[in-house]
Amino acid sequence: MSEGHKFYELLVGDKPVVYGWVACEGAHVSVLHHLKLTIPGNAIYVWDVATAPEHRGQGLLGIMLNEIFNLHRPSTRVAWSAVAVSNHASRRALAKAGFNPMFTYFTMQFLGRTIFSAVLKKGRLVRAQPVFDCLGLEPVPV
Ligand SMILES: CC(C)(COP(=O)(O)OP(=O)(O)OC[C@H]1O[C@@H](n2cnc3c(N)ncnc32)[C@H](O)[C@@H]1OP(=O)(O)O)[C@@H](O)C(=O)NCCC(=O)NCCS
Repeated sequence: MSEGHKFYELLVGDKPVVYGWVACEGAHVSVLHHLKLTIPGNAIYVWDVATAPEHRGQGLLGIMLNEIFNLHRPSTRVAWSAVAVSNHASRRALAKAGFNPMFTYFTMQFLGRTIFSAVLKKGRLVRAQPVFDCLGLEPVPV
């Protein structure tokens, strides 16, 4: 939290059923462990969210995300997140909350060392870290 991250929980009654972390301006985020993103002004980055298994499929992550967006308005103009392509439930929940895909990125590792990281954007393959560096430089106007 001292590094610019905020922790949120959604309670049903007095029971926490969803939690999530939000990185705010100036916070550093590790994406895929080695790609680095610094959050610019008027953006937030949602990471490490989970709904208790017995409450999944009830739209609760979306309710919590909407509350988070309301809390961060009007200074925040855009919210980002990263999700594994194979995580269907998370992709559905984020899409319902209004997130749209920006690009797909992937990495190749050998014996724990990164060989190559790339972003596939509009049919072009480019090195990943410069794309994350650009995100960190420009707050996105809406
Ligand atoms: C991803 C996650 C946070 C979604 O939270 P949620 O509050 O269940 O979100 P939603 O209710 O909007 O459900 C999203 C999708 O999950 C799937 N789903 C529905 N019921 C489910 C259940 N009982 N168990 C698992 N997934 C379910 C459905 O595909 C649903 O989409 P739909 O509403 O179009 O059918 C939750 O599945 C979770 O905690 N997963 C494990 C942790 C994780 O993957 N976190 C994300 C890391 S980026």
